[in-house]
Amino acid sequence: MVVDTLNRPLRSLRLSVTDRCNFHCTYCNPRTGREISFIPHSQILAYEEMERLVRIFVSLGVKKVRLTGGEPLIRRDLIALVSQLRRIQGLREIALTTNGSMLEEQALLLREAGLNRLTVSLDSMDPERFHRFVDSDVPLEKVLRGIAVAQKVGFYPIKLNCVMQRGVNEDDIIPLAEYARREGHVLRFIEFMDAGSGNDWKLDRVVPSSEVAKRIHEVWPLEAIPAPGNAVAQDWRYLDGEGEVGFIASVTQPFCQGCDRARISAEGRLYTCLFAASGMSLRDPMRAGASDEELAQLITQRWNIRDDRYSERRSELTERLPRVEMHHIGG
Ligand code: GTP
Ligand code: 5AD
Ligand code: SF4
Ligand code: SF4
Repeated sequence: MVVDTLNRPLRSLRLSVTDRCNFHCTYCNPRTGREISFIPHSQILAYEEMERLVRIFVSLGVKKVRLTGGEPLIRRDLIALVSQLRRIQGLREIALTTNGSMLEEQALLLREAGLNRLTVSLDSMDPERFHRFVDSDVPLEKVLRGIAVAQKVGFYPIKLNCVMQRGVNEDDIIPLAEYARREGHVLRFIEFMDAGSGNDWKLDRVVPSSEVAKRIHEVWPLEAIPAPGNAVAQDWRYLDGEGEVGFIASVTQPFCQGCDRARISAEGRLYTCLFAASGMSLRDPMRAGASDEELAQLITQRWNIRDDRYSERRSELTERLPRVEMHHIGG
């Protein structure tokens, strides 16, 4: 088992397949006028390179891969990558985080290719607010249709990620919960994080998960479900039996202690934390002819010296350190 300086194993991999996105969510990829330029295609990993890296990570103990972006379904023929990954012995689970805008067309093919689990970002049930939020022409209706198709072809349960911001979408808490309960999805509320460089994060714009839970509990009483040590979300069950809701309290209750997640950007950099300033290129040694063993050794050495625990240290940091953009490593 590969462990870091805090004895955290390397168990999960999040692989960004593109840094491009057709949405411009205010908390992730806002239009700023000084758009962050996209990575040229030649610098992006080919699917064969991704498959090779995943295979090496699996040989080091990774059991679960999550495909992210940008928007992963923008990358041409993502289904081919899923099929390739499906053939890796020892990989238990392939998951995908998407904004849902292209699910209607792709859900069935993804299912057939062997994708196991699906998470869709959904921050509002109000068409107007949704439109303002994602800053794209894709209407809410299209995303909801995509989710419905995904459910129909067998993704169950579908997780819905909602980033909550004070004064922005608090009015969506109950409508989102109502929709998720009715349709049998698992909604998760995420605290707005100080990720990337452009989202104008302020502590007073974070709505603590405890507050969101309380609001829901007042309408539909909840009880906590015990969670494993490496869990990102705290899950609660509705006492009336209508499913579960989760809370990702990365600001008020950080979970670095159990963080077993490595991230690879579309250009093949290994990041050991969501808030890392830089990543180690795996693409360059790979393209220079490194063997699987040499790549495994590079990854192991990097993980062995890992000491990241940004969310736990956030309150003691006085200066704002440089960090990677969210749409480069997919949250
Ligand atoms: P599953 O357990 O596979 O369902 O996924 P997950 O619980 O890891 O959740 P998901 O991958 O959907 O992540 C949801 C959101 O939680 C991300 O988009 C991030 O905003 C946040 N998140 C996930 N992992 C981390 C992490 O390691 N650190 C921090 N600070 N936030 C994270
Ligand atoms: N704070 C919290 N979550 C974020 N995400 C992106 N930016 C942020 C942020 N600033 C997450 C959302 C989205 C996923 C792709 O990334 O959960 O669903
Ligand atoms: Fe929004 Fe996801 Fe695109 Fe970021 S990558 S802008 S969170 S849809
Ligand atoms: Fe892991 Fe970094 Fe998130 Fe902490 S802040 S849970 S170390 S990715």
